[in-house]
Amino acid sequence: MADIGTSYFKAQRFGEAVRPLSEAVLANPGDDKLARRLAVAVQQAGFAGTGGGEAKPTPVETQGQAPQDPEDPLAVMSDIARRVDNERVSGRLIPPPEGFADFGYPSIDYANHPGYGADKGLLTGEEGDVIKPFYEAFAPIWNGYLSMKSRASSRPVSPAHAETFRTLERDGILGLRMTDAERAELLERTEPVAEEVRRRRAELEPGKRGVEASSGHLYHVKNKPTDFVDFLNRVFENHGILEMASAYQGVPMAVKLANLQINSVEDMSIVGNSLVGDLPLSPAYYMHIDSSIGVMKVIIYRSKVSAEQGAFRYVPGSNRIGVTPFELCVRKATDKSDYDSSKTKFRRRFVGLPPFLQKKANFGNDLQPGHPELEPLLERERVMTSDDGDMLLFDNNGIHRGAIFESGEREIIQVLLAP
Ligand SMILES: [Fe+2]
Repeated sequence: MADIGTSYFKAQRFGEAVRPLSEAVLANPGDDKLARRLAVAVQQAGFAGTGGGEAKPTPVETQGQAPQDPEDPLAVMSDIARRVDNERVSGRLIPPPEGFADFGYPSIDYANHPGYGADKGLLTGEEGDVIKPFYEAFAPIWNGYLSMKSRASSRPVSPAHAETFRTLERDGILGLRMTDAERAELLERTEPVAEEVRRRRAELEPGKRGVEASSGHLYHVKNKPTDFVDFLNRVFENHGILEMASAYQGVPMAVKLANLQINSVEDMSIVGNSLVGDLPLSPAYYMHIDSSIGVMKVIIYRSKVSAEQGAFRYVPGSNRIGVTPFELCVRKATDKSDYDSSKTKFRRRFVGLPPFLQKKANFGNDLQPGHPELEPLLERERVMTSDDGDMLLFDNNGIHRGAIFESGEREIIQVLLAP
């Protein structure tokens, strides 16, 4: 079976490769190469929602993948939750050598939360099936996670970056500094886009400046390589950024997109989106983890940024919070399905989920004053000003938030790294 599966695999006939590879994997436990091939075949066959494929394997044949359109999605999720209940992972694809953090994501009792279960106005019972849309977000995330994880393995870091890398592994974030020449070139190369964003922002009332109006496109992987991305790769190479990111995730990482963003204290959209009903704004508002697995980010401060001027904030060590892989994917699914939005409609849906699915990526808004884990979390949070570095490389599965302003304006370039 292994030979037949491998032949189909090599011929890139992934749909036909899935069944023999599944049988071969079951017959050869511990054969990592076969397992990796199966994961790739399943993904390429379109089973994980990445395109049309002819194969529709059952869960047992695909090593725990979530089927595309099951009769009882809740039963599938309960089954996965039960199966991986003893596993612990962080948001990173390989286990942290430092061990897991001694704190977790704050647990929130939504049944008794004044913005959720205790808000009787929310419980109108008009939401219909809340499980199906949640499952549609969850299944590709879970399948993608299994596939990514099967591809990751430890990669070396050169001695020049070994110590810095240990800090990244421990804290989840690194502040690095460009040379004066690099900085001057960066400012020059990005000034036309910055100028355009400034012009667009000036045309709009502060309250109407959405993400679109405040950001400018610098690079996207789907477009042709540009001088700018060549420059970025050169700077990242000089500072070991891609090497460290690749070692961190256990897969080769590359620059996928870069955006320039300008925000100021007058832009109120983050605060507005963080309010939960009529409740006071949480001191932890907008604290979140991102929704992609296996990616990392770099924030480059284009302007000088102080603590008050929208500096990026990160909870060091929160990249090593250990949860079941199911919980990690559930947190991402609540974001992808909009269930973690604070808008009434989505809070109503969220209340309709069973407690084992009531976990958010964007959870900070729901931490009301008096929550026992609120103060410790705020104490751990570190404000990363431009004095800490003008390039911040971080694991975006650690707890973070940005653009928290008391005054002024900030210009940043956000770069996404992915396999
Ligand atoms: Fe984020």
